[in-house]
Amino acid sequence: MKRLTTTQLRRKPREGERIVMVTCYDATFARLVDEAGVDAILIGDSLGMVIQGHENTLPVTLDEVIYHCRAVARGSVRPHLVGDLPFGSYQESPEQLMTSATRLLKEGGVQSVKLEGGEEYAEGIFKLVRAGIPVMGHLGLTPQSVHQFGGYKIQAKTQNAVERLVADAKALQDAGCFSLVLEGIPAPVAERVTAALEIPTIGIGAGVGCAGQVLVLYDLLGLNEGFNPKFLKKYDNFHRRVVEAVGAFATEVRAGSFPTEDHSHYPSH
Ligand code: KIV
Repeated sequence: MKRLTTTQLRRKPREGERIVMVTCYDATFARLVDEAGVDAILIGDSLGMVIQGHENTLPVTLDEVIYHCRAVARGSVRPHLVGDLPFGSYQESPEQLMTSATRLLKEGGVQSVKLEGGEEYAEGIFKLVRAGIPVMGHLGLTPQSVHQFGGYKIQAKTQNAVERLVADAKALQDAGCFSLVLEGIPAPVAERVTAALEIPTIGIGAGVGCAGQVLVLYDLLGLNEGFNPKFLKKYDNFHRRVVEAVGAFATEVRAGSFPTEDHSHYPSH
């Protein structure tokens, strides 16, 4: 089966279907989320926090994102793969953006790239799209601007900020983005942006009015007990499950009850 294309993703909301995207960073989880039937996988720079243990996404390098893209590409078959452009890999110039995005497709094996920011990247995005590189935009609480925002704070809370957000969204659409992530903004604002665009919006912490939803995989699995923002629904408690499973292994090893003969090799077998 072939991977979903940007055309198929764009068609979904028109056919009354919501787009389902999750982040993923390795081949094992890629196989699982593919089997679960997600439409798209974002190899997000959130890997800096959930994989590497950094405080924010800023230290992540392009080489690191490419490494994880390759693993996810090997592990999955059907979902569309979006490679995230990390901080410092595109902000300098449209030329730097072209070089980094090209590497994500050539070396990472993804089908599109995502970048954070608005109208200021329109020229570079236009060039990428003309060169055959599909682009997903990302507006609102864009984590690479955490220091500019002074923390992970809900954005677009004033009339001016809302107007700027709508203008940025339209500029990204006009530049050729096939879709747009809206993160950390009031639900009515996300609804307004979604209504103003022809391309689908994919929300995270942006309410019910988007054309699709994305969550960080480790968050929706409940791997981090201490991370409980309002927007997050944990669909399981893998923090507890992992601690219990590994704890049971440790108990049995210490008690000498694992391995048993069932788990042992003998010359006659
Ligand atoms: O890096 C990431 O995981 C993201 C999502 C939160 C949209 O950008």
